[in-house]
Amino acid sequence: MDHSHHTSITIDLNALRHNLKEIRKLAPGKKVMGIVKKNAYGHGLVGAAKGLVSEGVDYLGVIYPEEGITLREAGVTCPILVLGATLPEDLPQCLEHDLELAILSIDHLHEMEKAVSATKLKAKVHLKIDTGMGRIGSAWHSSGAFISETLSADFVEIKGIFTHLACADLPGDSFSSEQVRRFEIVLKQFEDLAGWRPMAHMAASGGILHYPETHFDMIRPGHLLYGVLPDTGADQILDLQPVLSLYTKVVFVKKIKKGETVGYGNKWAAPKDTHIATIALGYGDGYSRKLTGKGVRVIVNGQSMPIVGSVCMDQIMIDTGETPLAIGTQVVVIGKEGNHEVHVHELADLQATVPDDVLSGLNWHIPRTFLKTT
Ligand SMILES: Cc1ncc(COP(=O)(O)O)c(C=O)c1O
Repeated sequence: MDHSHHTSITIDLNALRHNLKEIRKLAPGKKVMGIVKKNAYGHGLVGAAKGLVSEGVDYLGVIYPEEGITLREAGVTCPILVLGATLPEDLPQCLEHDLELAILSIDHLHEMEKAVSATKLKAKVHLKIDTGMGRIGSAWHSSGAFISETLSADFVEIKGIFTHLACADLPGDSFSSEQVRRFEIVLKQFEDLAGWRPMAHMAASGGILHYPETHFDMIRPGHLLYGVLPDTGADQILDLQPVLSLYTKVVFVKKIKKGETVGYGNKWAAPKDTHIATIALGYGDGYSRKLTGKGVRVIVNGQSMPIVGSVCMDQIMIDTGETPLAIGTQVVVIGKEGNHEVHVHELADLQATVPDDVLSGLNWHIPRTFLKTT
């Protein structure tokens, strides 16, 4: 028997479309790569990708080849770039599935060349330049040799050149301008060596919002698509809608007396006689244990109710006051009902992390339903 039916996620494809439209207003005429890595930030890889493709995104961005292969097997035909570090042994499968790849260094290029020689296929590649993120890619100050070697490699077709901003979520930060300066030097170097330049891309959500000079030929939005703003104040620039709602159900109810305790460690005692409902969600589903004791609320029948006691692996208790809930009652854990809303930003702030962390951590086995009204 599958217990995952107690907990479910709905994805509002209208909200996804709305967010994409809002993003496009900031970068008119630019190509868009919709970032769907890590199960589309928890939103469901295939459903979110298909939603974005139906809204006309030019590219999809994933982090691992497996994600790209899953998309191809689900019938997605638009260009897909594997943004992460692809291992040479995965290359033949990537090429069979027409995935474009990030080439990270001269050594990586040579390893890829060895791996591809058996297949006689050409690899569509984007050169990854490290302009200051310090994660993956060829250092900007020594990229001349990297560009020349890639230009002379027969097995590649160069489709793009890209980099990633380290501090773009901070408006007005001088390091982003410095990264633009470095990237422009590398682009000039490419043009000098080749007499042409491939599609250049740099901006993820922060760059899209705060640094128009980073938009180049294509933007790569991730969390903005999913209705998550990178900083307070960004809501003045963009009107985004949350895309994901998380629901679970009441599985047990009881009445307790003033002073009785609830949950591991007796961390909560009832201040007065009350009703407790146990809901079918916990940290094993990606609802962090760090939310214990933080005053988090859920919404039941349009009313806001607090979670009490510690978050367990698969169950959480809520104080429903004078209301004894029926078994099976729906509980909104992230989302809106009546006049109440639990926003992922709130849950992220309470555990000192970013909303992407909360969303992408939602367990992949929770069933996702994709809703679209028009
Ligand atoms: C290379 C690259 N581009 C774009 C994105 C999208 O980032 P964001 O969610 O900040 O828009 C990411 C995500 O980290 C990334 O790694």
